[in-house]
Amino acid sequence: MSDTETITASAETVTDYILAQEEKDQLRFLTCGSVDDGKSTLIGRLLFDTKLIFEDQLAALEKDSRRHGTVGEEMDLALLVDGLEAEREQGITIDVAYRFFATDKRKFIVADTPGHEQYTRNMATGASTADLAVLLVDARHGLMVQTRRHAYIASLLGIRHVVLAINKIDLVDFSQERFEEIRQEFAAFATGFDFETLEAIPMSARYGDNVTIRSEKMDWFEGPTLLEHLETVQIGIHELNQPFRFPVQWVNRPNLDFRGYSGTIAAGTVSIGDELVVAASGKTSKVQEIVTPVGNQPSAAAGEAVTITLEDEIDISRGDLLATSGSRPDVADQMAAHLIWMNDAPLFPGRSYLMKIGTKTVTATVTEIKHKINVNTFEQVAGKQIDLNEIAFCNLSLSAPVAFDPYEANRTTGSFILIDRLTNATVGAGMVWFALRRATNIHWQAMHVDKQARATNLGQRPAVLWFTGLSGSGKSTIASIVERKLHLEGRHTYTLDGDNVRHGLNRDLGFADVDRVENIRRVGEVSKLFVDAGLITLVSFISPFRAERDLAREMVGSDEFIEIFVDTPIEECKKRDPKGLYAKAEAGEIKNFTGIDSPYEAPVNPELRLSNVGRDPEEVAEEVIEYLRANNYLVPPASIADGAGI
Ligand code: ADX
Repeated sequence: MSDTETITASAETVTDYILAQEEKDQLRFLTCGSVDDGKSTLIGRLLFDTKLIFEDQLAALEKDSRRHGTVGEEMDLALLVDGLEAEREQGITIDVAYRFFATDKRKFIVADTPGHEQYTRNMATGASTADLAVLLVDARHGLMVQTRRHAYIASLLGIRHVVLAINKIDLVDFSQERFEEIRQEFAAFATGFDFETLEAIPMSARYGDNVTIRSEKMDWFEGPTLLEHLETVQIGIHELNQPFRFPVQWVNRPNLDFRGYSGTIAAGTVSIGDELVVAASGKTSKVQEIVTPVGNQPSAAAGEAVTITLEDEIDISRGDLLATSGSRPDVADQMAAHLIWMNDAPLFPGRSYLMKIGTKTVTATVTEIKHKINVNTFEQVAGKQIDLNEIAFCNLSLSAPVAFDPYEANRTTGSFILIDRLTNATVGAGMVWFALRRATNIHWQAMHVDKQARATNLGQRPAVLWFTGLSGSGKSTIASIVERKLHLEGRHTYTLDGDNVRHGLNRDLGFADVDRVENIRRVGEVSKLFVDAGLITLVSFISPFRAERDLAREMVGSDEFIEIFVDTPIEECKKRDPKGLYAKAEAGEIKNFTGIDSPYEAPVNPELRLSNVGRDPEEVAEEVIEYLRANNYLVPPASIADGAGI
């Protein structure tokens, strides 16, 4: 490999290097297999043979190999990669390591992902940007459950090129029969996956046979070596041939004379004079200029970062998707998608997450888990929640319409991530299948009588008093006295109480986390309707999760939502135990009891915190009334009348 170029892996060098070779074709691939399949050795071999390894690392490697004695006098290439894996386990580096190398034909970015079953999320991360997957199998063991899993995830994430690396062929005497057997079994199994190329290569990563150098021990094999194949396989034609897609990253308006839209072209090509459409609004205009850091261009293609100016002033902001008007993306606020869950805390339908799709961020909720997929058998299984590393097919509902393409048509505009609203961590990755048409057929019905009109008639300011706290904390007792006091003042009220609502609307729900999430979501929706009806609405639910209380606050609107934390210590609640439930829970007769074997997340910033230990409930209720009075919730009828009207 004398014509092979070498680079070092520091970030700047890599960036410089890649910039310098911009005109050279690039292949992104990932390797999948467990450590025993020889994945580390294979990557080490590729890097070594393409002379990436630094001289000093080499010296250390020689020393280590001798000490470990794994391959006699030969260097153990796996040590190079596994050393990094040990680092990874300590959390020093990211879960997916990207390595770079190049030959005179192509440059390569290889994503190295840990192979163990619980690392579906890592594989998905690596696969989401890869053009090709190298699936490793040990020639002695043949196809394993994980080989099928890797093929499935690769296919799900839109990888169209696969190499079946049948490794350790030296350990089966370079047997053509064994190779053929495995190759045929995989080919039969992979027919459903729609791979464009599938190349099976017999190799010995340890000794280098058919990795970069053709093996002399397998005359019978007429295919390419791994590197030859990686250098020549045809990829990347798709993005260029797809319809033009441009997610607007930011609106560039340095002065009044210039208004450009900046971002990276996700698919297709664009030229001056092309008619573009803003996907969400349907407004169209023509391309006036295509500006790049090195000057204006007549046209640009997928992957290029450009600023586009249009002939007309139309309303476009960050998050909008510009597209060719001849082939428009879907626009919808409900969709069906595959979701890969990457978080320790499960996904619950009804809980709200942030969805980042292209450059747009909205809130999103899974409304239904259609099925989960057993990634080892591909069986569809039912499920109420999605746990770490699971894959599910779901319906999602968004806070606003977004523009997208089905993932199958476009991996960039068809994918999204879900972000936890409290921790800001990426918790899921999704691939859109299709828009749900019902989303486009249901519209808001305009009402002649609105919330303010109803409130005016009732002569009051509507609000939700959301009481949260442990079972037995005194929520319902206090809420009931507050309601009586309001009623005596002539206020119009209604109380939603956990025990009562669970007898009717929510009788289908139990006490597992997933049920509590749905319980509170529904109560949030109902309290929103009651506020809309003009009522002062008292809600008395344990509502143990911060996320759902925040969701309710968002649904109702912060200025009409008063979170009241009935902060009674659990010892006191146990002592009171009005329904004898704590005794039962401690005896193990009730499962998932809040405070015993199910969590309670106390409010961080409630509007009101009540402690009622040793106090008369009447006095505590009066504290609530005072809060309402002090914060203008109990305004006299006249003062809310202005501006109201129908
Ligand atoms: S929540 O957690 O989903 O908000 P909710 O307020 O509706 O709970 O219902 C709580 C009431 O259900 C408690 O006051 C108690 O009477 C009863 N209950 C029965 N089983 C449980 C349980 N496992 N955990 C908590 N409350 C329970």
